Parts: sequence; structure tokens; C-alpha cells
Amino acid sequence: MAFANAKPNTLALAALSMREGESLLELGCGPGCALQGLLRLPHLARVIGLDWSEVMLAHASRRNRLALEAGRLALVRGDFARLPFIAEIADAILAVNVVYFMHSPAAVREARRVLRPGGRMVLYATDRSAMRRWRFAGPHTHRLFDYNRLTALLIDAGFAADCIRIEGVNAGLGVMGLLAVARKEKG
Ligand SMILES: C[S@@+](CC[C@H](N)C(=O)[O-])C[C@H]1O[C@@H](n2cnc3c(N)ncnc32)[C@H](O)[C@@H]1O
Repeated sequence: MAFANAKPNTLALAALSMREGESLLELGCGPGCALQGLLRLPHLARVIGLDWSEVMLAHASRRNRLALEAGRLALVRGDFARLPFIAEIADAILAVNVVYFMHSPAAVREARRVLRPGGRMVLYATDRSAMRRWRFAGPHTHRLFDYNRLTALLIDAGFAADCIRIEGVNAGLGVMGLLAVARKEKG
């Protein structure tokens, strides 16, 4: 997983462009590779990784042990559909290769709820044209997205259409990905 997600994570981290003193929540942090990259930035205020899988959280914990011990990182077990956080705690949200598992319509709304006004969510998904060819990504486990479906998902969750930017990206090995930046309107 770490290898397959490396390029999408690199693209998403660049799109996040974290600034001094900001806080970040990663949804579906998996083995914690993106967190490791983010924690190299010494100036972030608070970094939280959330995942449902105990196994993934254990990997993320091992990979980021020093940051955990220093109190720079918190790892939390939780479900996208019901985030265990108060509203508006994050300046930025990262969600790489996780939207396929957001089966409940509540999930992206939850992400928007915990984003502060003016904050942004960066979301990466492999385009359905590529996903359809992969046997492991069948409709019983994965929701698939193209540009229009991803736009609709973000609008349904409450993001304004003019606050959403989605670009097609090369995710490596000829795989087409979608990189979305959705901003929560101020006030
Ligand atoms: C394909 S992995 C992506 C991991 C990571 N973002 C990366 O790029 O390496 C998807 C992750 O989402 C987590 N996940 C799936 N459904 C979830 C849910 N409903 N709530 C929280 N985490 C979930 C899985 O445990 C897994 O770690």
C-alpha cells in the first residue's frame, strides 16, 4: 500500500501547501506514510491521523513513533461517517485513496464539519476508468469516481461549486488520478 500510494501522497501533500501554525487531519491515514512526510515540517501546530483499522494504526504508530512520543501527532481510531472531533478543528484535511470507502453520504459532510471556515480538504482518487480494470476494486467494496461524480459528492457535502478545483493527474504507471481541493467558505 505504501508503494502504490506514494505518488498520490506526494501530489496531495504539495496541493495542501501547509503553512506555519496550521493543524491537519488525515482521514484514512493507513500506514502513516503521508503523516511521516508532513511531520518533517517542523512548524505544524497539530497533526491527527484517523483510521478504522487497528492494524493500520499500529503501522502508522511504528512509522511515526518519535512524533507520537513528542506529542506532535495523535492517532485516533474512528469512522469517516462519524468523526470523533468537535467542529472546525482542522485547517486542512488530507484524504488520499479513501473516498472509495465513504459509503455513507455523511462521510464528506463530516469532513467539512471538522474543517474550519477558510480551510481546505485535499482529496485524491484514482479515476474510475483505471479502477474499473482492477479486480480488487469491485462495486461491492469500492465507490468509483470520475470528475463529475467527485464534483457532485463534494457539492452534496456542502462545498460551494466555485470553491472546488479538480484536476486530472498522472498517478504513476500511466494511471489517471483526480486531485481535488475543496475550500470551506468563510463565515
Ligand atoms: C487505500 S488505504 C489509503 C491509506 C493512506 N491514505 C495512504 O495513502 O497510504 C485506505 C484506508 O482507509 C481506511 N478506512 C476504510 N474505511 C474506513 C472508514 N469507514 N473509516 C476510517 N478509515 C477507513 C482503511 O483502513 C485504510 O487504511
